[in-house]
Amino acid sequence: MKVLNRRSWALLLLLGLAPFALQAGQAAAMAGHLTFYKDVLPVLQRHCQVCHRPGEIAPMPFVTYEQTKPWTQAIRQAVQSRQMPPWFADPAIGHFANDPSLTPQQIQTICDWVDQGAKPGDPSDAPPPRHWAAGWRIPQPDRILEMPRPVPLPAEGDVEYTYEIVPTGFTKDTWVRMSEIRPSARDHVHHAVVYVRPPSSHWLRHAPIGVPFTASTLKEPQDRRDAMWTDSEVLLVYAPGSAPDRWSTDRAKYIPPGSDLVFQMHYTTNGHAASDQTSIGLIFAKTPPKERVLTLQLTNDKFVIPPGVDNYRVEVHGTLPNDATLLSFFPHMHLRGKRFEYNIVHRDGTVEPLLRVNYNFYWQLSYKLATPRSLKAGTELQAVAWFDNSRNNPHNPDPESSVTWGDQTYDEMMVGFFDVAVPANMDKWQYFKRRAATPRLAQ
Ligand code: HEC
Repeated sequence: MKVLNRRSWALLLLLGLAPFALQAGQAAAMAGHLTFYKDVLPVLQRHCQVCHRPGEIAPMPFVTYEQTKPWTQAIRQAVQSRQMPPWFADPAIGHFANDPSLTPQQIQTICDWVDQGAKPGDPSDAPPPRHWAAGWRIPQPDRILEMPRPVPLPAEGDVEYTYEIVPTGFTKDTWVRMSEIRPSARDHVHHAVVYVRPPSSHWLRHAPIGVPFTASTLKEPQDRRDAMWTDSEVLLVYAPGSAPDRWSTDRAKYIPPGSDLVFQMHYTTNGHAASDQTSIGLIFAKTPPKERVLTLQLTNDKFVIPPGVDNYRVEVHGTLPNDATLLSFFPHMHLRGKRFEYNIVHRDGTVEPLLRVNYNFYWQLSYKLATPRSLKAGTELQAVAWFDNSRNNPHNPDPESSVTWGDQTYDEMMVGFFDVAVPANMDKWQYFKRRAATPRLAQ
């Protein structure tokens, strides 16, 4: 091939200027011409439609071009500011399997697409539509257990924690690999905890079955006291935005035969009366798993947050009594919650952060470790929470008050739920047995 010298390049350029410029212009337009079907829809499918599809928590669906078009400027703003998709973990600490965050490149693609006029492009470029089980984020459940009676909710005022006991009817060992809680009146549900009550448990034994009740309506004083404090295993916790449980094929949660599920519902009012009938969908393990998943908690209920303080620190420690594999975290605070950390405190005193959440009461997410972490017996876990009880906290219901632990959202909580995997034949009591000295880690 003949090598062109500088002059011949210049000549060629001069001669070919007009057609060349046109081609280059076309090429740039082609390269820069992003379309909904080819470039944007795949991102929406993977990162947004879990909430932005009909019937889910986001107010508008982003499934079709027509649905998405009116929102393009808002989408640009929401992804560029990283307001969407919602995720509150400090990216400098840990990696999480359920982190929905967009890459800088995906954000750029969306912004450029909007700036170029948000063109639809060719529908034949679209990826196949993503299939969802109607009404669920997990695949179609094997079994759905619903609270038998709806709970009427007033328009205003506090609602005491409401319970409903739902018999499972399970006659053999049941291993749950995935589960999801679905309130029917989502706007009224501040949290739901579904507990497993095995036949041997005395918890709420005198309480009615299959109808809603609150602690103060129970006749037995023991039941009234017990309602709040149980050592029953947690099947799943729900709060707005929280993700369903999905364990790998060798792990599951266990429901003994003859168990009841106890739904503990915290409802809030919002000016509209409603009624709620929450369900839990279960997908069973097809074969008995190698490991059992336990939900434990690091809880501190002995704090007093002074009025006006904007960074009040509350911490709690616990030592693992046995080996376990750490799987995931679910921090829980109320309206003054600001930050929540989980750490390992090593023997030499160094603190290794596992998760730091810039807490948002309206987005109580779970954080599932991308790589589960094996921890030895004796590992010291620490949870630290910071509360903002100042006027600068726009959600603060009363900056003048000293705040202590309590049920209602104007009270506070400090609970670091976390999930661990242990051998399949070990329950929570056995897990805590081998060594003592773990007073505050889980109940
Ligand atoms: C976990 C559920 C969830 C995911 C995932 C999610 N959204 Fe949202 N989105 C919501 C909810 C709920 C709202 C309405 C309440 C709010 O604004 O917080 C919302 C609101 C929005 C808004 C309106 C914001 C405004 O200005 O009012 C936009 C735009 C948006 N989402 C875009 C996206 C995009 C783009 C993605 C994916 C990259 C995404 N969302 C992922 C739940 C979600």
